Amino acid sequence: MKKKGITLIHGNASANLAEEISRHLNIPLTDVLVTKFKDGEIRVQIKENIRGSDVFIIQSTNPPADNLLELLFLADAAKRASAKRITAVIPYFGYARQDRKDQPRVPISAKVVADLIEAVGVDRVLTLDLHADQIQGFFDVPVDNLFVTPVMKEYFGELDAKEWTVVAPDVGATKRARAIARKLGNLPLALIDKRRPEPNVAEVLHVIGNVENKRLLILDDIIDTGNTIVVAAQKLKELGALEIKVAAAHALFSDNAEEKLCKAPLDEVVITNSIEHKRKFNMKKLKILSVAPLLAEAIRRIHEEESVSALFI
Ligand code: R5P
Repeated sequence: MKKKGITLIHGNASANLAEEISRHLNIPLTDVLVTKFKDGEIRVQIKENIRGSDVFIIQSTNPPADNLLELLFLADAAKRASAKRITAVIPYFGYARQDRKDQPRVPISAKVVADLIEAVGVDRVLTLDLHADQIQGFFDVPVDNLFVTPVMKEYFGELDAKEWTVVAPDVGATKRARAIARKLGNLPLALIDKRRPEPNVAEVLHVIGNVENKRLLILDDIIDTGNTIVVAAQKLKELGALEIKVAAAHALFSDNAEEKLCKAPLDEVVITNSIEHKRKFNMKKLKILSVAPLLAEAIRRIHEEESVSALFI
């Protein structure tokens, strides 16, 4: 049996984060084989005895879909190896943006993914900044949806409410932005009325709130192509912002996001390591914060059957 009865397993999407979590908990990672057959099919084997153990599988499910498959196969392997309980630790829960039937003949991808995760025997889910809170309801098992707020709070500290305003880049981001604005010193809030003429294309229609001669912190859950942030920053600069920073929980950085963010009128781009990238970023204004301490503490509390709600701040 592993120390304290916890088994930490990870797939290829979250290898570095898992190592960091393991260091925080002082529990070694369990030896797992996650490789491929010659044709590209995923092959998984847990190399140690995990019978009766409290198993945490750390794996983000950003594209490619192989990341999701690795999580599913690892969970199935753990169940068949007689794990006592399996928690899927999903720092970034992918396929979350199609979370309702808002157009004819579209799937609810987030529900499909939730069903798959449950079908392989996962007993609970620990995740971070779900794109939409209601995705928790797509699961019948418990879901702990933590927020990166404490990580951002530690980095930004207390900001002066006379100088700083938090900006929600679209209506969906308002609740999250308001929560962080409160934590960073009851900062005022401004809202952007954003339109998406097509997926990944963003247009700013209006800015609600005073941004002139202000220092601004734009808060979003995801930076994908960077288009939302870039058009927001351009508009805010036009309206007389003094300084503009952006903070986001999850950085997909698809397309040429890095290049666009570099050129945009942004003073700092703050993200977390919920999604790991193979390439190194060459952006001086980029700051990557670690969510490992937060996830490690949540894992410890789940294992010890302690309340996790203290971390929902
Ligand atoms: C949208 O609802 C999300 O909260 C993000 O604003 C969006 O995913 C960002 O995408 P992009 O960077 O491609 O504009």
